[in-house]
Amino acid sequence: MTAASTLSHSERRIGVGLSVALVLLGLTMAIAARQGVMAVHGAMAMILGIFLVIRIGGAFYGSEPDADRQHQYYDAPTRFGISMTLIWAIIGMAAGVWVAALLYWPEATPALPWTSFGRLRPVHTTSVIFGFGGNALIATSFYVLQRTSRTRLADSISPWFVLIGFNLFCAWAVTGYLMGSTQSKEYAEAEWYADLWLVVVWVTYFILYIRTLARRHEPHIYVANWYYMAFILVVAMLHIVNNLALPVSFGAADSFTIWAGVQDAMIQWWYGHNAVAFFLTAGFLGMLYYFLPVRSGRPIWSYRLSIVSFWGIVFFYIWVGSHHLHYTALPYWVQTLGMTFSVMLLVPSWASAGNAIATLNGAWHKVRDDATLRFMFVAAVFYGLSTFEGSFLAIRPVNALSHYTDWTVGHVHSGTLGWVAMIIFGAIYTLVPHLSGRETMAWPRAIEWHFWLAIVGTLIYVISMWNAGITQGLMWRAYDENGALSYSFVESVQAMAPYYLLRTIGGAMFLTGTVICALNCWATYRAAAPLHQPRDHPLKPQPAE
Ligand code: HEM
Ligand code: HEM
Repeated sequence: MTAASTLSHSERRIGVGLSVALVLLGLTMAIAARQGVMAVHGAMAMILGIFLVIRIGGAFYGSEPDADRQHQYYDAPTRFGISMTLIWAIIGMAAGVWVAALLYWPEATPALPWTSFGRLRPVHTTSVIFGFGGNALIATSFYVLQRTSRTRLADSISPWFVLIGFNLFCAWAVTGYLMGSTQSKEYAEAEWYADLWLVVVWVTYFILYIRTLARRHEPHIYVANWYYMAFILVVAMLHIVNNLALPVSFGAADSFTIWAGVQDAMIQWWYGHNAVAFFLTAGFLGMLYYFLPVRSGRPIWSYRLSIVSFWGIVFFYIWVGSHHLHYTALPYWVQTLGMTFSVMLLVPSWASAGNAIATLNGAWHKVRDDATLRFMFVAAVFYGLSTFEGSFLAIRPVNALSHYTDWTVGHVHSGTLGWVAMIIFGAIYTLVPHLSGRETMAWPRAIEWHFWLAIVGTLIYVISMWNAGITQGLMWRAYDENGALSYSFVESVQAMAPYYLLRTIGGAMFLTGTVICALNCWATYRAAAPLHQPRDHPLKPQPAE
């Protein structure tokens, strides 16, 4: 069954119309730019538009979907989103392993500009954060929203627009960096036209979410939806403010940010840390609060605590960005504000981590036997660990040691590998069999392999980076009896060699696990039961149980 065959005839007409509009947009960009990155991106949009016209056009006169479809959940976009999640995971993690290897073997860099560390590093960060994390968030949010609201998505076109549009943004961003284009803002390197495109996609996402929620058959809005909505709303706000820029011309990719000096730095890190908070945390807590109870068969330990910690996280996070700018030209009191809120943030963060772990009380035998649930348990533990570490690193004198060192990189990956990636894998292994009408994944034992590769890979990565970072920090601040530095910078770089090698090995293990997961999902989709009736929450309203 193709995606187009899930649409009605009138929806197919709208789909073709939007695809033609994409072709025209791409053509306009290519003509305006004539050459360079923007022209290539225009050509990419045109090719995508033509491909979509052919795909939808090919099914144009095909039979309409089941007349009863309004009484079924719409999961085709979720299935597509999960596939994109895994494709980006492999691209992004392979780039991560490669740049990790380059730090150990810098001489291995080929003499081609696009293979340089500087270009591939943002390819890694964008592919994993937005490609892997973003697609997982969008795909699961559609699934969770429908189940917890007992209603179908408000329409069938916008979910596709959101997913395809978002992936076009990621592809523009990543190919732009390879061609040397960047606006030099970390985690927001894509240029102005890609940023504008993302605003259109994101507003559509928010409107779709709200419209679906408004049609719900459940009086209560389940807490997972609060987290997903905070993620959508705040990311829109951050993205717009941080990316305010004036293009050099409408036919060129380059632009200048409207922010200047220390305000620019503060806006960038207000964005940067809230990208951690709302992209890498809030949405994933939504995922945790849905999939953990479902998989363990236990209600959330304290629903009230989940709401209290929601407001704590939303309120405290928004102030903490200045902890990235300790000992800079930023006024001292602003740094202190960021530090204080970062320490307070530990309370709601641990409330969420503790709530998740306490939910497993009475289900520990399942954690032992079920690798999928173990992914979620480990995610909650790493969420607790990385937030503790974050609050600690935000304390100014601690940051004096950690800043600029690999300790930060260790902290980042304890959060992203241990927390974000683990909860995504837990959700995927719960979702994919369900979407395929099966009891289990096609290769259940492969989940166990994936789990051990992921956990051992994460531990090797994170522990080697802690050692690397603390060694660097201590070497840089060591003085001899004459007051001269004890070590040259090059000596501190040489001391990193074993840790960088270990990180490459740990990363390669993690990547291997991800490839196994992708193959397992592919095998499960292929072995899907035909015309299955998913064992699901009923869509129509029911008397209370
Ligand atoms: C196979 C797994 C991975 C490997 C081998 C890997 C490797 C790396 C390397 C080598 C760097 C550059 C460090 C430096 O500049 O010194 C990096 C940075 C980064 N990675 Fe990964 N990574 C992996 C997975 C992930 C995932 C899954 C995420 C997010 C979901 C992620 C997010 C980041 C971020 C945010 C940075 C920038 C850190 C900073 O600026 O402090 N990584 N990674
Ligand atoms: C209570 C929660 C947290 C606090 C207070 C916190 C605090 C911090 C601090 C102080 C830094 C170092 C800033 C610097 O020296 O430049 C940092 C860096 C970072 N943290 Fe966290 N953290 C928290 C949770 C997390 C989580 C859960 C993740 C990932 C899922 C994460 C991802 C990152 C990233 C990506 C950076 C690197 C930014 C960069 O320099 O490029 N943090 N965090």
